[in-house]
Amino acid sequence: MGKPVYMDNAATTRVSDEALAAMLPHFTESYGNPSALYDLGQDAFRAVEDARASVAASLGALKSEIFFTSGGTESDNWAVASAAESLGGRGRHVIASAAEHNAVLRPLQRLEGKGFEVTLLPVDREGRVSPEALDSAIRPDTILVSIIAASNVVGTVQDVKRLAAVCRGRKVLFHTDAVQAAGHVPVDVRDWDVDLLSVSAHKFHGPKGAGALFSRIPRLPAPLILGGGQEKGGRSGTENVPGAAGLAAALAAAVRDMPRDSARLSAMRDRIIAGALRIPGVVLTGDPARRLPGHASFVVEGIRHSAHLINMLNGLGICASSGSACSASSREADHVLRALGYGWEPFASLRISLSPYNTDGEADYLLERLPGCVEALRRRDPHSSRFRGAAGGAPGARGRDGAAG
Ligand SMILES: Cc1ncc(COP(=O)(O)O)c(C=O)c1O
Repeated sequence: MGKPVYMDNAATTRVSDEALAAMLPHFTESYGNPSALYDLGQDAFRAVEDARASVAASLGALKSEIFFTSGGTESDNWAVASAAESLGGRGRHVIASAAEHNAVLRPLQRLEGKGFEVTLLPVDREGRVSPEALDSAIRPDTILVSIIAASNVVGTVQDVKRLAAVCRGRKVLFHTDAVQAAGHVPVDVRDWDVDLLSVSAHKFHGPKGAGALFSRIPRLPAPLILGGGQEKGGRSGTENVPGAAGLAAALAAAVRDMPRDSARLSAMRDRIIAGALRIPGVVLTGDPARRLPGHASFVVEGIRHSAHLINMLNGLGICASSGSACSASSREADHVLRALGYGWEPFASLRISLSPYNTDGEADYLLERLPGCVEALRRRDPHSSRFRGAAGGAPGARGRDGAAG
């Protein structure tokens, strides 16, 4: 099989040539330990500090407010745990949305085990959190609010600025998981007026295992990882120098190219959405207007298991996913789709997430093949009788069970 049609960029992305070029010297030439005093070490130290300054510029932050981490998961865990650790004396109530990534939800569950109380705000059918509902949920003992900036599952871009303003007005710390937003939509920590913000390099053509946490609060984040005191004591462990350099280069390129790329990706996304919605029983999930440029997500009624659809597309050389990388093989509807109110009828979820490397020809190929896949899988499933023959398959094949591979 030739090169795959890669349409799972919300799961991870190809490293760009620019990011790779920024990383390579730090494997074989400038490979010193940034804590070492000799020139080779100080070269590496400067590379990390240059990367920090570049990430800060890309996010509208100060250099001193950027801490490198091992990725989005660590940044999210750190933000949540750190606020609890540092502010637990002031209150023990934390608020998040029901549509957060597990990198926020799981540490919150751990906090509950330690005597914190967690309120999960509902989201509407399109995945939005209401600023009014947030305001009502804040109590005198609320210490942190964490709301995802853009959904990995349904692509909805949240009105972070309004949500953060509610928290600022009520003097509560606000964290946003901007892992899917950064590099895809404009992210400016000053304009948004957030306190803590997580990013991950591999979501915008940087390397895996590299992320950053922005924090505007002095002495926060309290460390999650203890040891040699790197990152101003905030995050111990020898710095991932190539990772930091790759993250910085990828983010700077994504921000630079955003006007051009986002216009092209939005047009391709809208064409895919329009084509997919022509298949009966295919429904767009998330906000139709305020969504990530390259993100198209659907529920496909009458197919029980997302994995069957993903596997069939894979057989055609198309890499797509069912909504989130972590639940790609799960038979359960994603917790985010449940939070949006889906989940009672049998359905598959399908997420197509594009990058600037995708071509119009690839979008055509997907749209040519998708109706046949849906039709074949519905024919196999006894629960999908109302859709049989409805997606453009051969009429003679109606009613066959277990036929398609
Ligand atoms: C919204 C969101 N938050 C956090 C993460 C975790 O990021 P990482 O893979 O860098 O740990 C992801 C990755 O799927 C994500 O989509």
